[in-house]
Amino acid sequence: MPVTCVIGLQWGDEAKGKLVDLLTDRHDIVVRYQGGANAGHTVVRDGRKFKLSLIPSGIFRPEVQCVVAAGVVLNPASVLGEIDGLRNLGIKVAENLMISDRCHVIFPWHVEEDRLLEQQCGDEPIGTTLRGIGPCYRDKVGRGLAVRLGDMFRPGFEAQVERIIGAKRDVFSALGSAAGAAIDAKQVAAQYRGYAERLAPHVADTTAYLLDAVEAGRRLLFEGAQGALLDIDHGTFPFVTSSNSSGVGVSVGSGVPGRYISKVFGVIKAYSTRVGGGPLPTEQDNAIGQQIRDRGNEYGTVTKRPRRCGWFDAVAARYTARLSGVDSLAVMLLDVLSELPEVKICTAYELDGRKITNFPGHADDLRRVTPVYETLPGWRDDITGAVRLDQLPTNARKYVDRISELLGRPVGVVSVGPDRRQTIFAE
Ligand code: IMP
Repeated sequence: MPVTCVIGLQWGDEAKGKLVDLLTDRHDIVVRYQGGANAGHTVVRDGRKFKLSLIPSGIFRPEVQCVVAAGVVLNPASVLGEIDGLRNLGIKVAENLMISDRCHVIFPWHVEEDRLLEQQCGDEPIGTTLRGIGPCYRDKVGRGLAVRLGDMFRPGFEAQVERIIGAKRDVFSALGSAAGAAIDAKQVAAQYRGYAERLAPHVADTTAYLLDAVEAGRRLLFEGAQGALLDIDHGTFPFVTSSNSSGVGVSVGSGVPGRYISKVFGVIKAYSTRVGGGPLPTEQDNAIGQQIRDRGNEYGTVTKRPRRCGWFDAVAARYTARLSGVDSLAVMLLDVLSELPEVKICTAYELDGRKITNFPGHADDLRRVTPVYETLPGWRDDITGAVRLDQLPTNARKYVDRISELLGRPVGVVSVGPDRRQTIFAE
């Protein structure tokens, strides 16, 4: 039975939501397993746009079980807002949404710490989404100041919150912030108890549920958030998110051993984008970058920030395809490149006078590389109606084939527009 993963191979925003939505029919359970409300998935169905952050895109099919697994950091207010929004649109959110009792909970102080820490980075901030993601994961690893969703149902919760707030007040005053004094422990505890009450029908031991499911041969779809180059351990540190957003994070976040995974889709945009700070070797801070931004509507789903745009980087994507154990590529937003007279692919970097094809481990080295480009002819035709690979113009086909060759993986999917129908399945 298929256990499929959808992993972004770049810096996030690879249009994974669309692929997940398309693959959902072939699966029983869709799982989010890392990240939090920093992610933004846009799903277009029958011309209507839906924006999701925490809830898996599988929610649009009532027969599919959606699971938010242990590795996700949860802002209860955000998830409740999403639930309400979906229900208002007539979409069922009931027992078909399960949330792990092990999820770590985001509190207002995490959001404030995110802001303060960004300020402390001086002129090189990470450019986080300011959703408190990093501080919540930091407290999880630090253990002493962490709260898990399951804790919010226990009798000791009020005392736990009070103790944590005491410690946070010290942190805030050390950082010169008045935020600590403004936090009212009783009020926060009561507010979060209220959230817990509303979330109660969804809270479950998802680790046990998912293990039972794989052992029973049920079909699971793992929906990665962000992209592999933002992986805390293997990405462009420190300009990364605080979870394992590459393929290696699936087991960590869900509790399902890697041996059950049967297929990994590596999702790439036909070009590169990045939102936030950090090196982007193929960035085009010029008219071409602007053209890609305009045609691809490259503005953040969560923060609305304009995304930095550039040519496809095969060095970076080959690295993350290997890291994530990718079997098959999904090339998204190919239509965005139509009308460019020529298109470029970065096939190697030059660093200190040497040509390299391995992805550097240090952000400073990545910042110093000069991309080595291969230039291919562009295509002028409108490709948004293509439903088979042989309907693509020769040059578009050649571009996709070259990416496949450089990454050493077959292309299984090509997306030529936002709608579900604008998808070519090549396998
Ligand atoms: P954080 O996850 O909010 O801590 O942000 C850390 C970095 O990851 C920043 O560069 C963000 O812009 C980036 N990031 C976080 N989530 C996403 C996402 O869903 N798409 C793209 N970039 C993201």
